[in-house]
Amino acid sequence: MDAEKLESEALGAISGAGTLDGLDDVRVRYLGRKSELKQALREVRDRDSGERLNRLREVLEAAVEERRGALERAALERTLTEDVIDVTLPGERIARGHRHLISQIRREVESVFLGLGYEVVDGREVETTRYNFDGLNFPAWHPARSHHNSLFFDDDTLLRTETSPSQIRVMESRKPPVYIISHGRVYRRDTIDATHFPIFHQVEGLAVDRGITLADLKGTLLRFMRALFGEERRVRFRTHFFPFTEPSIEPDVSCFACDGEGCPICKHSGWIEMGGSGMVDPAVLEFVGYDPEEVSGFAFGLGLERIAQLRHGVPDVRLLWDSDLRVISQF
Ligand code: DAH
Repeated sequence: MDAEKLESEALGAISGAGTLDGLDDVRVRYLGRKSELKQALREVRDRDSGERLNRLREVLEAAVEERRGALERAALERTLTEDVIDVTLPGERIARGHRHLISQIRREVESVFLGLGYEVVDGREVETTRYNFDGLNFPAWHPARSHHNSLFFDDDTLLRTETSPSQIRVMESRKPPVYIISHGRVYRRDTIDATHFPIFHQVEGLAVDRGITLADLKGTLLRFMRALFGEERRVRFRTHFFPFTEPSIEPDVSCFACDGEGCPICKHSGWIEMGGSGMVDPAVLEFVGYDPEEVSGFAFGLGLERIAQLRHGVPDVRLLWDSDLRVISQF
């Protein structure tokens, strides 16, 4: 191997490399494992030529490093002068998310009742028949107990069909007075259509104290409906039946769209049905160890999807489960 010829040839190639990639090719060619120099170094037998070849290697390595530094500086220089950032250009706006309509309504409901001195308590989505039915005074033959209507895990365990079981759990765990709301998902074996989905959200209210009357229930629901649907709203009550309330009444709110004149939203009646309520049945108070001679109470249950659909004109409840931003971002 002609060391001098190799040196001048390699140095020429190194200083001739115009890019970092090109320089790397040159390095591999003259200093790589298969290069002539490395081959010669492996075969060297005497000290003199060993030292000579090693010096050559060092010279070439230093030249490569120097060239690399020069090329990197030039590249940096180019970026600095060419890629100037114009800080006055408008930025790309990042879309901001927000709470789902159902969560918004849940919070509205919460804030109305927190303002009335109520406490928000959690319930369970997986319930036992004891809390979902027995404690709520459902008779043994009630159709809601059937596997056709409710979603059971086994004979005693099911996905709660309403938020009312949390009434029993709360009353069992503390003495009156009780002023609570509890909300969350409930499950029924319903066929899906524009107003039914097997999962939906309810809010449950319960007040138990000395001397609670039907007038307290009416006043509370009136306050609630006005907060949600406007201060001009009126409320009326129709008798109904629930196993856990006696009497049971269904509240209607005067239509917020036509103010009672009659329109498609209220089906031309001027009134909109808003859920169920009533005075807590003495049998329920006894079940949890309260004395119905001492205390009385009222309870109510409302569906959040229904409120959302009516108040915001959502034509199909499935839209609320779609996660389609074109829909969700409208609210
Ligand atoms: N649990 C009832 C339902 O899902 C709603 C309801 C009615 C709740 C009356 C109550 C009540 O607390 O008192 O249809």
